[in-house]
Amino acid sequence: MQESDHYLKRRDAIALLRDSGCSESVIEHSLAVSKLAKKIANKIKKNGYDIDVEFVEIASILHDIGRCKTHGIRHGIEGARILRSLKLDRFARVCEVHIGAGLTKEEAISLGLPAKSYLPRTIEEKVVAHADNLISHNKIVSIQETLGKLEKELGKNHPAIKRVEKLNNFIENLCKNKNKKERGDLNG
Ligand SMILES: [Fe+2]
Repeated sequence: MQESDHYLKRRDAIALLRDSGCSESVIEHSLAVSKLAKKIANKIKKNGYDIDVEFVEIASILHDIGRCKTHGIRHGIEGARILRSLKLDRFARVCEVHIGAGLTKEEAISLGLPAKSYLPRTIEEKVVAHADNLISHNKIVSIQETLGKLEKELGKNHPAIKRVEKLNNFIENLCKNKNKKERGDLNG
């Protein structure tokens, strides 16, 4: 964890969700995402990649904090706004880029969000988004189930669906294969 966010412990993150007004259902979901994200991050670390497992655990508890304001598409940026006001900028980024496998600037504009790219960049941001894609409420689902659900919502050939699949393949690869380099190529 970086210096600015090392003090935030699991219990602080859960308390922050409660204090912000998140429902117990959101908290249950967030804890399930965190459990899976931590497991994935540990596998990736074991394979020799540089990943901040503790940050992944806490960031995934906080990823949906914006749901205390709205359950719509804006919950990502609402969450980021709350966390930035607390100077938790690195966590704020995770909120912003966790929708599916992130949104391009063009998609953001078409959804009425502030015009910028919301694509996950760091390995930690990618793991949280991916774990969230594999949790429905507080249960693990297959990537096929998630892709099927997205096809129904967005239409078969929506580019966001391919992006979710690509992120899944990227993370699965890191979980299965050892890092051949000193630092892996993490740009999936
Ligand atoms: Fe979310």
